[in-house]
Amino acid sequence: MSTNRLSDGMAAALNAQMTKEAHAAQIYLAYAAWLDDKGYDGMANFLFRHAHEERNHMMKFLEYILQRGAKVRIEAIPAPGEEPKNVNDCFEKFFQQEVDNTQAIYMLVKKSFDEGDWATWHFLQWFVKEQVEEETLAMNLLDRIKIAGGEKASNDALYVLDRDLKDEPDEAELAQEATAENP
Ligand code: FEO
Repeated sequence: MSTNRLSDGMAAALNAQMTKEAHAAQIYLAYAAWLDDKGYDGMANFLFRHAHEERNHMMKFLEYILQRGAKVRIEAIPAPGEEPKNVNDCFEKFFQQEVDNTQAIYMLVKKSFDEGDWATWHFLQWFVKEQVEEETLAMNLLDRIKIAGGEKASNDALYVLDRDLKDEPDEAELAQEATAENP
C-alpha cells in the first residue's frame, strides 16, 4: 500500500521548485560576492542574508515533500549566470529573479487547484504571501537606487545606500498591513 499523498506530477513540480529555490540562493551568493569584491559590504551583507533565506525556502519544499510521503530528488543546481554590470543591474536582476519565482509559485498553485490537492494548495499560500513581501523588498531597493541615480549613481550616493543596507531588516513592510493607528 502506498502512503504517498502527492501525485507524480505534483511531486516532480515541487522537487523542481525546491531546486529553483536553491538556484536563487546560488544567484544571490554570486551577486553578494560580486558586490563585496567591489567594496559594497553592506549590500553584499544584505544579499548574503537573502541567499540564506532562499536556502530556508528550499528546505520548506524538501520537508513538505517528505511529509507527504513522496520522494525528494536532489538535483544539480544550475550556475548563477552572468555577473551584474553595475549596482543598478544587480538589483534589477534581483527583482526579475523574484518576479520569475512568483510565476513559478503561481503555476504550482494552479496545478494544486486543478488536481484538487488542497493540502498542497494550503502549503503554497505561505509562498504566495512571501513573494509579495520579496517583490516589495526588491521594488523598494530599486526605487532607492533609481533615486540615487540608477546606472549613473554617484559614489557618494552608493556609499550611503551601502551603509544603510548593512543592518536593514530583510522583511519589507507591506502597505496592506498598515493601519490608521499604525501607518
Ligand atoms: Fe524563495 Fe526569493 O523566493
